[in-house]
Amino acid sequence: MKASIIAAALAIVIATVDARPSGHTHQSRGHRKYKEGTIAIFGDYGWKGWSVPTAAECAGLPASGNCDPGDIASYPQAVIAQERTAKFFGEVCQEQNCQEVMTTGDNFYNIGLENYQHFKEGFIDMYTAKSLKIRWNPSLGNHDIVANTSVSLELNAHKYDSRWFMPSRWYQHDITVNDVKYHFTVLDSSPFISSYRTSTTSPYHSQELLNTMTPAMLQAQIDYLDKSSAESDADWKFVVMHHPILSTSKNYTKPADMGGLFQIVQKHKLVVLNGHDHVLSHQQGNNTDFFTVGAGSLTAASDGNNGVYLPYIKYVAANATYADNGMALLSGTKEELKVEYFELLKGAKKPSYTAIVKHNAHYNITI
Ligand SMILES: *[C@@H]1O[C@H](CO)[C@@H](O)[C@H](O)[C@H]1NC(C)=O
Ligand SMILES: *[C@@H]1O[C@H](CO)[C@@H](O)[C@H](O)[C@H]1NC(C)=O
Ligand SMILES: *[C@@H]1O[C@H](CO)[C@@H](O)[C@H](O)[C@H]1NC(C)=O
Ligand SMILES: *[C@@H]1O[C@H](CO)[C@@H](O)[C@H](O)[C@H]1NC(C)=O
Repeated sequence: MKASIIAAALAIVIATVDARPSGHTHQSRGHRKYKEGTIAIFGDYGWKGWSVPTAAECAGLPASGNCDPGDIASYPQAVIAQERTAKFFGEVCQEQNCQEVMTTGDNFYNIGLENYQHFKEGFIDMYTAKSLKIRWNPSLGNHDIVANTSVSLELNAHKYDSRWFMPSRWYQHDITVNDVKYHFTVLDSSPFISSYRTSTTSPYHSQELLNTMTPAMLQAQIDYLDKSSAESDADWKFVVMHHPILSTSKNYTKPADMGGLFQIVQKHKLVVLNGHDHVLSHQQGNNTDFFTVGAGSLTAASDGNNGVYLPYIKYVAANATYADNGMALLSGTKEELKVEYFELLKGAKKPSYTAIVKHNAHYNITI
């Protein structure tokens, strides 16, 4: 190719990369291949840098959302939990050679990403380990959609740190490690949650939610998952989203909350990766594996059903009073997907729990 043609082609590539859609267009940033290593799953983490409102600022406002007294009181503890988990994440990825991170959302508390300082404190200066200088592929949690500016800031945050790559509200991404291909369809699950849609006093009944909760927009995400999964020839196909379909805590999200999404999950035999519950856990039902990875900062034993196993729970990193911090890593072969959980209290050298997923697995429990 002539230099001028190369330059023109490059200009087009650069223009394409630069023109981050602020809406819900669906672009992939291509297929990334690695010889070896693991893919990290991490969620519910970004507290540090939240502009905690003062009592005066909350005067006259509802005691929820940004002025939730429980969240305000938890902030110092949440930052400590985030910092120690960030350090642990670095150690785990050093040991296990993480190549990329998929997040399960709630990247920024309490109302989402507010400004550059928040991004700097909660991400750039937080995940500083050399082993974490890898691509991060975020999904949106309910906290990420509260402030009007949050989603557009997250969509543009690659300008501040090139590790961060969120091309649109929902998108697909392929990673190949050691010749095994992983296909991720990343969704924005908040608009599926009926309580956010119907409760006008919910902090998550935000302008961002109103923009994405129409029946047509919900169907667009379902169709996107269907098409993305159908067209992929990957060895392992995942849906990554914040809210669980099947949760460790029976009081939380139920399959019905996710509308038609679970039918698509079953149709394409997808593996579900989610956060929202502030625990590490593995559930099985309807021949589907559900991996909850929501332990990047503050955890909650109650989200892990206080360590009590329901019929579909295979593993939960919680006991009656405490839930451990940590993350999960994906690896394996074309025949067997390996999902390894690392818990902070158990160390970075070896996983505290390993799940092996096989194709066409049959689990007796129906949900
Ligand atoms: C967010 O945007 C909506 C619609 O433009 C507006 O009504 C609302 O006041 C904004 N919220 C905040 C917190 O600025
Ligand atoms: C969870 O649901 C059970 C049964 O409906 C109820 O007794 C319990 O109080 C609920 N727990 C919470 C934390 O809401
Ligand atoms: C789980 O599978 C059973 C049996 O096929 C089916 O009746 C049920 O609707 C499925 N559950 C969900 C939530 O889709
Ligand atoms: C739960 O685990 C934590 C952390 O290991 C421990 O300190 C605590 O004693 C345990 N609580 C119960 C009730 O087993």
